[in-house]
Amino acid sequence: MLSSVYHDNQPITIGILGGGQLAKMSALAAYRLGLRVAIIELVEDSPAGRMTKLDFSEGWLNTQELERFIEASDIVTLENEFISPDVLDVIAERRLVLPSPHTLRQVQDKLTQKEIMQKAGIPVPAFAAINTVEEAYAFGRQYGYPYVMKTRTLGYDGYGNATVARDNQAMVAFRRFTSDPDVPRTVMAEQFVRFRKELAVIVARNRRGEIVSYPCVETIQTNHICRYVLAPAPNVSSILQRTAQDIAVTAVETIEGVGVFGVEMFLTDDDTILYNEIAPRPHNSGHYSIEACYTSQFENHIRAICNLPLGSPDMIVPAAAMANLLGKRPGSGIPDTVVGLMRHSRVAFHLYGKAASRVGRKMGHITALGSSIEEVFARVQSAEEDLLW
Ligand SMILES: Nc1ncnc2c1ncn2[C@@H]1O[C@H](COP(=O)(O)OP(=O)(O)OP(=O)(O)O)[C@@H](O)[C@H]1O
Ligand SMILES: [Mg+2]
Repeated sequence: MLSSVYHDNQPITIGILGGGQLAKMSALAAYRLGLRVAIIELVEDSPAGRMTKLDFSEGWLNTQELERFIEASDIVTLENEFISPDVLDVIAERRLVLPSPHTLRQVQDKLTQKEIMQKAGIPVPAFAAINTVEEAYAFGRQYGYPYVMKTRTLGYDGYGNATVARDNQAMVAFRRFTSDPDVPRTVMAEQFVRFRKELAVIVARNRRGEIVSYPCVETIQTNHICRYVLAPAPNVSSILQRTAQDIAVTAVETIEGVGVFGVEMFLTDDDTILYNEIAPRPHNSGHYSIEACYTSQFENHIRAICNLPLGSPDMIVPAAAMANLLGKRPGSGIPDTVVGLMRHSRVAFHLYGKAASRVGRKMGHITALGSSIEEVFARVQSAEEDLLW
């Protein structure tokens, strides 16, 4: 394995499992650092795959394609935490995989993840494994309805979650999640948190254990999908912001994470911060850092896995707002109204280049920088009104 990133003055190649927008923005950061990028994804012409000649579009389940990808890569990372640990182990026999399969195993199952974080002293909502319909009813009796039933694995953008308000709904959700003929899944239950805000903190940690945390931000979701991010989180005291950062740092150290991680939390009405979950990769709540911080989450991800010194996560402006551009209907990945949006000249515009739009799909994002949250939030909201898909 290579000891140096700029080995014999030859740039190394960062292999990324996945070719979506997170891989694309990570690749852009790697290129800025003079490195090469290889992408493996089961699609031709993925947003990140089209950026490199080292594009392995048969996907990692194809043994020969995986072999070629491993051969082309020096360090391997990922943009999606749902890759089977067996595949990661195969790669890890030959190349450094970061975050490591050990880290990923601790977070891929949300129940195991919560147990590990609770053991580390991190405050979490009440939760339990649910293996039978009777256990689903018992959770409702003990903690009250509504509560949130979650699939323990493979949940994203709320697809594996159901808020259940009574026994009957708990039964329906339990049956739906556990009897999927394609992927039958195990479930857990979690107390419904009446939160004032949702918060998130990005943390970067390199192989030497050097660690930095980004500002505490507010994330605003509709239908379980992130819509806006406000940085720093408005109307949250600096003590609470610090607490959120401390929780995020503890979470990453607990799982011995190397790379960049997004830690999602709830802020309750009585100012308690509860841990929700960790994403072992660059996270939507950190996209604002591309323009708003000295070092973006993507650059720090590359630096962390390469064991380079980390850059400052501090903001270079007092306030930033990010809005996700979500698909509104099935159609092209490039909206007809894209030029209209560009007339909002003080908004940074990112279009991921996905082949097709779908309702709720993350197609791009916009970021505004300024001197107050009110100002930047108003600016992204006015810009997004001009964008139709
Ligand atoms: N215990 C809870 N109480 C109240 N709301 C919750 C709870 N758990 C999740 N939610 C809501 O559902 C959203 C998605 O939940 P979670 O983060 O667990 O799911 P996911 O599908 O893994 O997420 P992501 O959207 O981050 O991919 C949260 O951001 C929050 O708005
Ligand atoms: Mg989440």
